[in-house]
Amino acid sequence: MRLTRYFLPVLKETPAEAQIVSHRLMLRAGMIRQSSAGIYSWLPLGYKVLRRIEQIVHEEQERMGAVPLLMPTIQPADLWRESGRYDAYGPEMLRIRDRHERDMLYGPTNEEQITEIVRASVGSYRDLPKLLYHIQWKFRDEVRPRFGVMRGREFLMKDAYSFDVDRETALQSYRKFLVAYLRTFERMGLKAVPMRAESGPIGGDYAHEFLVLAETGESGVFVEKRMADLSLGDRAVNFDDPAEVQAIFDDWTSGYARTDDTHDQAVFEAEVAAGERVEARGIEVGHIFYFGTKYSEPMQALVTGPDGERAPIHSGSYGIGVSRLAGALIEASHDDKGIIWPESVTPFQAGLVNLKQGDAATDAACEDIYGKLAAAGLETLYDDRSERAGAKFATMELIGLPWRITVGPRGLKQGVVELTSRRSGESVELAPEDAIARLAEIYRGL
Ligand SMILES: Nc1ncnc2c1ncn2[C@@H]1O[C@H](COP(=O)(O)OP(=O)(O)O)[C@@H](O)[C@H]1O
Ligand SMILES: [Mg+2]
Repeated sequence: MRLTRYFLPVLKETPAEAQIVSHRLMLRAGMIRQSSAGIYSWLPLGYKVLRRIEQIVHEEQERMGAVPLLMPTIQPADLWRESGRYDAYGPEMLRIRDRHERDMLYGPTNEEQITEIVRASVGSYRDLPKLLYHIQWKFRDEVRPRFGVMRGREFLMKDAYSFDVDRETALQSYRKFLVAYLRTFERMGLKAVPMRAESGPIGGDYAHEFLVLAETGESGVFVEKRMADLSLGDRAVNFDDPAEVQAIFDDWTSGYARTDDTHDQAVFEAEVAAGERVEARGIEVGHIFYFGTKYSEPMQALVTGPDGERAPIHSGSYGIGVSRLAGALIEASHDDKGIIWPESVTPFQAGLVNLKQGDAATDAACEDIYGKLAAAGLETLYDDRSERAGAKFATMELIGLPWRITVGPRGLKQGVVELTSRRSGESVELAPEDAIARLAEIYRGL
């Protein structure tokens, strides 16, 4: 992409309405634009990041055996009357009436919708388990939308739902999702710690929130240090092996990790040595819980078991805040110059800066490198504007591309360009071919 052709409305001024760094940087870098409170347009750069996040979520959901589908944003109120949630949900639900005076709503979540789909076609325990998910916009009329995309009214969520014949198999599905989430967030370069969440009506230990530690997080978190340091690394997981999944699950749920909703100071002090107690703040990026037959019972989603008896299906819900993650990633990775994207979610793999636009030799070298980067499968944002070097660097630093190739007449005379890391700020001089090869190596397998 050439910058002269792109749409990148960066702001010089720091927007006054933005209270936290990710919101400020998303506005300044031209990633989003507010439409109304808590509702945003995703401008080209922001949209690219959103799609990269979605892509990782899709890949990891499918890897663990969940199947994608797409349910509508607008749902009939009657479905929610069946579950009893239509009246219970309160003013967060956006209620709509169509031209035939039928009550509709903009879905804040999809348990009813998916339960209706499954009950229509699943009749026997032999049809189970089923793990289904979609990535779809939600609407919740939050009292206090704030922090940009972090707490929006319209936001993009991945929500998955599991359908199993009994509690034990449902918990196996639950454990798979927990492990899949570990992989998902690690691939994004994030440390997200599963923490015990309020378990709702069913009780038990099968409710977790995933929190990214960040000062601006809305939740207080209390964690045993070793839990915050755990990493799956590039370990491959066989999701069809319940024992392997259970072992990982046990490791990640073995220590103290809770949010202020579930925190118990006495237990924290009893279980965790003083030097190991981390008290911090966190951003909730995912939330999983087992809820048993909460919807299948009132909505009569039943299967015939091996014993011939009809019984309600056991289910859980598994959410990831896809649009919130764009903000969370920035909270976790930025400096005073701007965003620093991890390679796995960066909107462009490289930035290309032409130091002397209009100089025939420099322009030709840039065009050549630009073409070769594309041929190597790398998406590049080529700053081909007639701007000062300083302005070009400032833009690249603000938008946070992890690698920059800088091309100028002086270097070209020596046969070199500069390859700069956004994270470390370090530059090396390399022949253009070597710089391209280095980048191809860095991005291989991502
Ligand atoms: N208003 C919002 N704006 C952006 N993301 C949200 C919002 N509400 C929830 N999410 C994301 O969706 C995920 C699943 O939502 P859920 O847990 O059902 O919401 P809540 O935490 O409000 O109960 C959350 O973990 C969070 O990452
Ligand atoms: Mg939640």
